[in-house]
Parts: sequence; C-alpha cells; structure tokens
Amino acid sequence: MTQGYRVAIVGATGLVGRTMATVLCERHFPVRSLRMFASARSAGSSLEWNGRSIVVEEARPDAFADIDLALFSAGASTSRELAPAAVAAGAIVVDNSSAWRMDPDIPLVVPEVNPDDVAWNKGIIANPNCSTIQMVVALDPLHRARGIRRIVVDTYQSVGGTGNKGVAELREQVAQDAAGVALTPNVYPHPIAFNLVPQIDSFLPDGSTKEEAKMVNETRKIMHAPLIKVIATTVRVPVLCAHSEAVHVGFERPITPDEAREFLRRAPGVIVEDDPSRSIYPTPRDKIGRDEVFVGRIRSNDVFENGLSMWIVADNIRKGAATNAVQIAEELARRGLLANRKERLNVVRG
Ligand SMILES: NC(=O)c1ccc[n+]([C@@H]2O[C@H](COP(=O)([O-])OP(=O)(O)OC[C@H]3O[C@@H](n4cnc5c(N)ncnc54)[C@H](OP(=O)(O)O)[C@@H]3O)[C@@H](O)[C@H]2O)c1
Repeated sequence: MTQGYRVAIVGATGLVGRTMATVLCERHFPVRSLRMFASARSAGSSLEWNGRSIVVEEARPDAFADIDLALFSAGASTSRELAPAAVAAGAIVVDNSSAWRMDPDIPLVVPEVNPDDVAWNKGIIANPNCSTIQMVVALDPLHRARGIRRIVVDTYQSVGGTGNKGVAELREQVAQDAAGVALTPNVYPHPIAFNLVPQIDSFLPDGSTKEEAKMVNETRKIMHAPLIKVIATTVRVPVLCAHSEAVHVGFERPITPDEAREFLRRAPGVIVEDDPSRSIYPTPRDKIGRDEVFVGRIRSNDVFENGLSMWIVADNIRKGAATNAVQIAEELARRGLLANRKERLNVVRG
C-alpha cells in the first residue's frame, strides 16, 4: 500500500483525539484519508487537520466500512459498543480507553517495552493508562538490567487526564477563587484549584482506587512480570497537563544511581535530566508537548534491598495517550499488519 492507510479517530473532538490527529501529522504517519468521529453533539462541526477542514461525523456501528486503522479515544462504553463493529468491518482498533486492557485476548502495548505483543492481536490493541505508560517506559530498562521486585509509586496527575472537562474545571475554579466565589466541585469530588485530591476513579473494596489497580495490573501485563509487587497512590493535582510520579523500586541485584542513569540514557524514549547541584530535574510545566519520558532525582534508597528512587514526568496527553497509540499503529504498519486486514480476514473465514 503506497498511498497510506484509511484512518478514523473516534473521540476526535477530545483532548486526546485532537492530539492523535496532530501526532499522525507530525510523525508523517502514512494517512490516505482521515475521518473524524465523535458523539451526536459534535456531528456536523469541523476540525482542521493538515491544512484542511474535516467534518465530524457521529460515531455509529455502521461507520467503519473501508477503514484500515481506527484510533478510539471516546471512553470505555463507546469502545465496548463500537470497537467490535469496527473490527468486524475490517479495521484494526487501537483503543485508548480502559475497556479491553486487562482482557487476556487483547495485547496491551507500550512500543518501547513490548512491541512484539502487537503481533498476536485479534483486531483490538489496548493503549495503557497514562500513568502506567510513563512508569514502564522508565522502569523496563532497569528491570531488564537488574530485575525489579517491588515498586511503590505516588502520582501527581494533571487535570488534562480528565479531558476537556478537567481542564475547564481547574481554569474556572482558579478564576472563581480569585473572585472570592465559593468553589463547587463538579468533575472531582473536591475543589481542585489550590488543592490535591487523593482519589482518581472510584474506590474498590480493598480501599484502593481503580486508577491505582490499573497501575498495578497493567504494569505486570506490559512488562510480562506477574510477580512484581506494586502499590500506587494516585493523586489529582492542579496542574493543567503532564503527570509526575515519585517512584521507589527494590531490585533483585544491586544497582547504583550512576548505573541507572547510564541504562536510562541508552533507553528508547527516555531522557535523563538529573543534576541536583543546579536544580535540574523534570517538572510537568516544561514537558507539555514532549513525547519522551523524563527521569530525574535518581538516588539510592535503603528502604528496600537494592533500592532506588526517582522522579518521572511525561505529557499524559502525548506519551500517555496519543503518541503511544500512533506508535502502536507505526509498529503494526512496520510489520505489515495494517494493510489488507479485510482480505486477510476473508482468507481466514474462507
Ligand atoms: N486525557 C488523558 O490523559 C488520557 C490518557 C489516557 C487515556 N485517556 C482516555 O481517552 C479517552 C478520551 O479522553 P479525553 O481526555 O480526550 O476526553 P475528552 O476531552 O472528554 O473527549 C472525549 C471524546 O469522546 C467523545 N465521545 C463522548 N461520548 C461519545 C459517544 N457516546 N460516542 C462517540 N464519541 C463520544 C467526545 O465527543 P463530543 O465532543 O461529541 O462529546 C470527545 O471527542 C477516555 O477513555 C480516557 O480515559 C485519556
């Protein structure tokens, strides 16, 4: 296929969907045609892409004929409803929601970590949770070198992780606070302006949240390491975009901070920014718009045997969502798994 692929974005008006369109363009993904889908609310509006205006269509089960690649980013219920229809119509779906991530029949992929898992897809590939993606990009190279036994992670997650409505709520509450107006939480259980909320998603019976459980389960699945022990506390913070994480790790074998920096400097998609003498470490504000995962504050800890601590920052809309999804599509294209899926399906159905 020399002219590229027929691509659809479902959730095209969202924070992630818009960024997917941008990233396709930036990375010169071979797009033959691009269709934009959202809910009935946005149908008929238009979005600019690559110098042209594309009319947004309502996402419906019969909308996916003649699509090679469907990038889904419209929430889990939309994915559950529409992704199987897209696959049946011959598309490969890269799904950004939580709908399929822990399904044993569906690969969960971070291309820097487990690219080969794209090969066993049956039509859907899941894009992991944003906080998990940035953590495994930084930890997998260290795991390969010294073997990880335990991870304790505390997150500082931006409101961009909640999409357009999270960003709107923070901006509105900051203005209301300045005007002396009482803050009424809408998106989060408490005001987010000048505050921290240690609850992302709903609570599970064991007292953890679903977001925390995602970090535990998805990390093990992506790294093919079911025995790693992980505990997460996930916190929403009044930052517009980019998530940060304080991560404490216990290894099977000794590892020094210098060795860790060296492993990370050689790792794909990672940038080490670590010079405490000059206050150099990543902060979320200066990583907005970047596709890499940034690591600093690397130091030993004696809480764990062979312990190491670090600070990990990445743009959650980009590497945590849109960029990772497009990288999965690139991986599929490189392996010849995107073209002619419909024909291959017909051969299998015979
Ligand atoms: N933001 C992040 O950092 C991040 C990271 C990883 C994963 N995710 C996941 O990505 C998805 C989208 O996140 P977002 O941040 O982009 O949210 P968002 O800004 O709120 O956008 C949601 C998108 O979904 C569309 N949508 C909603 N209901 C729909 C329906 N019934 N049918 C078709 N389209 C529908 C919306 O269309 P309308 O404009 O028409 O309402 C909009 O395009 C979610 O599953 C989220 O969990 C987000």
